[in-house]
Amino acid sequence: MVGSSGNNGHWWQTAVFYQIYPLSFADSNGDGYGDLEGVISKLDYLSSTLGVDAIWLSPFFKSPMADWGYDIADHTDVDPLFGDLATAERLIEEVHRRGMRLILDYVMNHTSDQHPWFDESRTSRTSAKRDWYVWRDPKSDGSPPNNWVSVFGGPAWALDSETGQYYRHTFLPEQPDLNWRNPEVVDAMLDVARFWLDRGVDGFRVDAAHQIMKDPEGRDNPPTPHDYVRPWKDMGEFDRFVHLYDLGHSDVHSAHRRFREVLDLYPQDPMSVGEIHVFDLSEWASYYGEKLDQLSMPFNFHLMASGWGAAELRVTIEAVLWHIPVGGWTNWTFGNHDEIRLATRVGEPAARLAALLMLTLRGTPFIYYGDELGMVDTEEPVEDIKDPWGINQPFLNRDGCRSPMQWSAAPDAGFGSNEPWLPLAPDHERRNVEVELADPSSMLNLYRKILEIRRGSPALRFGSYLSHPESRGDVLAYRRESDTDTKTVVLNLSDDSQRVRISPGRVLVSTSDPTRTEFFAEGVDLSPYEGVLIGHD
Ligand code: NOJ
Repeated sequence: MVGSSGNNGHWWQTAVFYQIYPLSFADSNGDGYGDLEGVISKLDYLSSTLGVDAIWLSPFFKSPMADWGYDIADHTDVDPLFGDLATAERLIEEVHRRGMRLILDYVMNHTSDQHPWFDESRTSRTSAKRDWYVWRDPKSDGSPPNNWVSVFGGPAWALDSETGQYYRHTFLPEQPDLNWRNPEVVDAMLDVARFWLDRGVDGFRVDAAHQIMKDPEGRDNPPTPHDYVRPWKDMGEFDRFVHLYDLGHSDVHSAHRRFREVLDLYPQDPMSVGEIHVFDLSEWASYYGEKLDQLSMPFNFHLMASGWGAAELRVTIEAVLWHIPVGGWTNWTFGNHDEIRLATRVGEPAARLAALLMLTLRGTPFIYYGDELGMVDTEEPVEDIKDPWGINQPFLNRDGCRSPMQWSAAPDAGFGSNEPWLPLAPDHERRNVEVELADPSSMLNLYRKILEIRRGSPALRFGSYLSHPESRGDVLAYRRESDTDTKTVVLNLSDDSQRVRISPGRVLVSTSDPTRTEFFAEGVDLSPYEGVLIGHD
């Protein structure tokens, strides 16, 4: 059993987060791109209709958009596509006025190649900012300094012909890597965090948090052995090597400690959740810090990587909970702007079970925009791909999960533009906020109901977790318990009916039948792919 220690009263431990990819959420000026004014116009939906507590907003900073905002040219200004700084400040205020919290993306690893820091760095080998990025001489044959490949494909080094050196880029050549071993870079980047914290933001999602420190000697990565078992999705060209040397060098932890020191000085109790694609759980957990002095939480992608059987899910959940350091707290998620959408991966019935699972496990849930509607990935002709990763390697295209939010059955889906930057999903006429609100059996109403119960349930918000010992095969069951409240969750992952013997209780939510509210004494019956949340008052 995982008990109640670890809930230290931080707001983010009991909050439910919602990720907004701002280009695709709501377009207030009809230019085809979502913007900050659009986000403001939908805050009531988030706080009152859906009932989430916090927002993670993907980048809206000044950017040439080579990687759609993850290439930042000015960390302290807003790209005109999204609005201006005054609108960002108003957004922070409006979020807080509704009792919600806001975290921003903090892109540590790199800037845009159009950032003034890089402009200066590339001017000459002796530039004052040369060492702000990672420059190396070519090998004697003129080739890159080592065999590292970029996440998006191709070498991780680009030659600057003017100065005759290569600069390193973990992602696109337009995203040169910052040198976090240079104290001036650390200071400048911590100032970026301070800039937004001073304006009241409640923390950060830290982009590529494990990738900022690499082997200082720049040793070659070994090639992937033939019997290599992928812990995560197919990463294309990046999978050709074992990433021994180009991520997670041990001094990454001191950088996170420095960052944490800044956060801890602010009265709003800021949090950080770091994008850590590390599947060795001990290493993954090391990003909390031994004294819980690094990231508030590493992002937990383990459910997304897990098989979908009850036994596998149970092992995944318990392995994660076990590895969290004493006093630490985790999170759960099934999607983000880099992944195939949940409903596309597992289908709608299983996506409903996943929603119940994610919103009732012990930890902080992160909902990806549109997943509460059951939105699915869109498809587009290869020549229309906008995502740079998809342009390099089409099977890794991320446009599909970034289609415009589906607000209504209007021709523009209520997004605000008839020519959105990415195509609308063809199902938007029947799958949208307006239609789903009116349908008691919709995915949206399922989310709303679970979230409402969660808000009033100490057991679900911070109670202990105990799995049913027979969670294997087709049924996953667990109990959440606080001093005053007990809830049980039972998920039938099969297409057969099941009866599960548990303590008497009342069905509060069923993923397949919104009218189910019966009391049972002997055991609960589940139809195929049905999940239930049970109260024991
Ligand atoms: C991870 C982000 O989630 C992804 O969208 C981005 O392309 C890369 N980091 C580079 O910043």
